[in-house]
Amino acid sequence: MVGIRALKKIWMDGRLVDWADAKVHVLTHGLHYGYSIFEGIRSHDTPKGPAIFRLKEHIERFSNSAKVYRMKLPYSAAEVERACVDLVRANGVPAVYLRPVAFSGYGEMGLDPTKSPIQVAVAAWEWGAYLGAEGLEHGVRATVSSWVRMDSRSLPPQAKCAANYANSALAKMEAVVAGYDEAILLNSQGMVAEGPGENIFRVKNDIVSSPPASSGILRGITRDSVVRFVADEGLSFLRTDFTREELFTADELFYSGTAAGITPIREVDGRPIGNGRYPITKRLQKRYDDAVRGRSPQYESWLTYVA
Ligand SMILES: Cc1ncc(COP(=O)(O)O)c(C=O)c1O
Repeated sequence: MVGIRALKKIWMDGRLVDWADAKVHVLTHGLHYGYSIFEGIRSHDTPKGPAIFRLKEHIERFSNSAKVYRMKLPYSAAEVERACVDLVRANGVPAVYLRPVAFSGYGEMGLDPTKSPIQVAVAAWEWGAYLGAEGLEHGVRATVSSWVRMDSRSLPPQAKCAANYANSALAKMEAVVAGYDEAILLNSQGMVAEGPGENIFRVKNDIVSSPPASSGILRGITRDSVVRFVADEGLSFLRTDFTREELFTADELFYSGTAAGITPIREVDGRPIGNGRYPITKRLQKRYDDAVRGRSPQYESWLTYVA
C-alpha cells in the first residue's frame, strides 16, 4: 500500500477486525453521494503511556455532525470513545492519527441516505505533521484560493461531512499545482475563512486573532486549545473577521489543526509574512506540544490515557 503502513486492527461496526478485512462494497451509498461524517484525532506518547488528545470533544463534534445530517449513529458517544481507546491499545503504536467515520452503507442507491444502513468505523495509522516537519519548523508557503469556501446555506461547514472536502480538495490541488504548500479559502463575503483542513490565526501587534465560527469554518478543537494557550501566555485574543490584505500585513500567521498541528505560514502569494520569525507562534507550538505529550499538568484533563 502506498503511503499508509498497515497497523494490526481497525474497529468496524462494533468489533476489531484485521486491517486487511476492513472492507466495504463498491455500492456503499456514502461513496457515491458523500453522506459520510468523520473525525481526525491524535494519540501521542506521554510519560504515562499513549494518550488521546481531547477525545471527548472530538466525539462530541462527531455526534453533532451526525445530528446535522439526520444520521442515526448505531453507537453511543461513549461506545465510539471506547472504540478509539481499544484501537490504540490493540495496535500497540502510541502515536497515531485516529479516523472515526460513519457513512451510509450498502443498501439502497438514490439520494435519500436514510434508506441505507449506517456503518461506523475507526481506523488509525501513523501520520507525521500534515504540512511536513520542515513546514512545522520554518513555515509553509500559502496561496489564497480562487475557490470560495462553501457556507452553511449549502454545506454546513461546522459539520465534518466528507462532501465538504471536495471543496477542500479543489483548493488544495490548485495550491499544489501552482507550487504552494497549502491554500487559504475566503468565504462568500470575501473574508478569510480557513485552510482546506486547518483553521487560521493572525498575529498583529501581539494580538492573536482568528475568524469566528460565523465566518463559515469548522470549529477546530486545536483552535479552541490555541485560544486557551493564548490566554495562558497572557496575550489578547480576538475572534474577528479579517481580509485578504490583512493576511499580507500580519506579523505572524499560522494554521492550526489535528493533522497539521500549529504550522507557521511564512509567505502568502509571494509576500513574506512579518520578519520571517514567529516568536508567538513558537510559544503556542511549545504549549501545544507539551499539552499533547502529557508534559503540562494544567492541560492533563484533555488527555485520555489508553493504558
Ligand atoms: C476544514 C477544517 N478546518 C479546521 C480543521 C481543524 O480542526 P481540528 O483542530 O479540530 O483538527 C480541520 C480538521 O479537522 C478541518 O478539516
